[in-house]
Amino acid sequence: MLTSGAKTHRTCATSLAALLLLSCIFEIVAARAVEEDTGVGPPPALAPGQPPPLPKPGPLAEPRLSTQVGFPTVLTNYAISPSTLRPARVALGQKLFFEPRLSGDGTVACATCHDPARAFTDGRPASVGIHGRVGQRNAPTVLNALYSKTQFWDGRVNTLEQQAALPITNPSEMGSASIGDAVSGIADDKDYQTQFMQAFGRDVNEQDMLSAIAAYERTLASFDSPFDHFIAGDANAISDSAKRGWELFNTKARCQLCHALTDNQLDTTLFMDNDFHNIGIGILRHHVAPLAQQAERELAQGRLAAIDTAAITSEMSVLGRFLVTRKQSDIASFKTPGLRNVLVTGPYFHDGSMQTLWDVMDHYNKGDGITNPWLDKDMQPLALTEPEIDDVVAFLASLTSPQYKVIGDQEYARQLALSKVSRTQRDTARAFGPKPKQPDPPPF
Ligand code: HEC
Ligand code: HEC
Repeated sequence: MLTSGAKTHRTCATSLAALLLLSCIFEIVAARAVEEDTGVGPPPALAPGQPPPLPKPGPLAEPRLSTQVGFPTVLTNYAISPSTLRPARVALGQKLFFEPRLSGDGTVACATCHDPARAFTDGRPASVGIHGRVGQRNAPTVLNALYSKTQFWDGRVNTLEQQAALPITNPSEMGSASIGDAVSGIADDKDYQTQFMQAFGRDVNEQDMLSAIAAYERTLASFDSPFDHFIAGDANAISDSAKRGWELFNTKARCQLCHALTDNQLDTTLFMDNDFHNIGIGILRHHVAPLAQQAERELAQGRLAAIDTAAITSEMSVLGRFLVTRKQSDIASFKTPGLRNVLVTGPYFHDGSMQTLWDVMDHYNKGDGITNPWLDKDMQPLALTEPEIDDVVAFLASLTSPQYKVIGDQEYARQLALSKVSRTQRDTARAFGPKPKQPDPPPF
């Protein structure tokens, strides 16, 4: 009895183990098929022709509070009129932000590329839209976009309402045939009919749809970082390294020349200047002049839809602000981005060409752009030592809002590990050398 019982038990245990192993293998295979996005580092690769998965709304998609430490009350009141933030409008905008029916084939929403779990970015060098089409530019965060005087890397529009209309019809983003088409995708939906009526007192329509999306975005103010607590008086909120980094940021590293609202006043709020600069990112010198000529030939000045398509889907994208102004001095100039949450919004720059904040620092340290005739005059070799570079990175990391602390810590560790084996931009000789003579712009 006992023996046979034990035997049965063993057989049972063996088959149980086999079953567990099988289910384990199945889970691994299944997990590979739909790999989870951890929010740290690059997201899982996509099958060809597939758009990225649509993120679900969750707590990170909720409007942020005005009680955050560091929240700029005066600036915010100046940037938005309270009436635009009626709760019914914000709630409608939040729903629209996740609405794939606004895209040509019902697969892509704003949140596809502005994922709240990734601080409203997508973690890809260049964004991927409908049918898996890869664009030319890196998705900036929508957090604090409410404070920018212009939208997009080249500032081709001024308001969030104007901005929201463009991705909906861009053929590489949401690919709707027209805004009208996007509106008809939701116009028959009873819930939307009720929500539009509550928010605006009328039926589903284009203008209110864009206003609602913009209203939602105006609630996405992101502060309350360790740095904000430090500025508010908590001396222990950031590390000594981050404190040295903040000092360097405003002195030897020269960052405040562009990442501050004025050159001579410490800016602890947005870390941008609402301006455009050529800092030598991705500039294809030999192609730039012909591309600029192509833009002048093919794009009627001021035709917004054509500029939008060129910026996202063509090589003319590298022309940056020039696409908008046609001024030679704006060739390959891009908008200075704010630096809040920058630790978790990589990869970096308008083309997503740099993987880590150490790469970013190496770029600035060598004052990149010897062969770039349009390089901003404020770019020059910085002679920052390795410990100084680490300090500036520690300061940048201290700008992470509390919602992203956990992935921020993991991302910091990931970037640090990567920087130990890969420093593609490092050029110590140039960083410590003299400022090279800048070539004259080629004749046009
Ligand atoms: C396919 C990916 C994709 C989709 C979908 C998308 N965006 Fe973007 N978004 C981007 C990229 C890339 C940029 C930068 C493009 C440029 O500067 O030329 C951008 C720029 C922006 C900006 C400007 C931010 C700044 O700092 O200049 C805002 C705001 C924004 N998007 C909101 C939205 C909204 C609202 C929607 C939905 C209506 C949306 N996006 C849909 C990828 C996307
Ligand atoms: C001459 C103006 C200028 C100076 C000086 C400058 N920046 Fe920038 N910064 C920019 C512009 C413009 C961009 C976007 C450029 C692009 O993508 O082509 C940028 C982009 C960045 C980014 C990438 C952000 C993102 O979302 O991709 C980081 C990080 C950054 N700067 C940090 C710094 C630090 C740190 C310093 C000082 C060492 C510094 N910057 C000095 C103008 C400047």
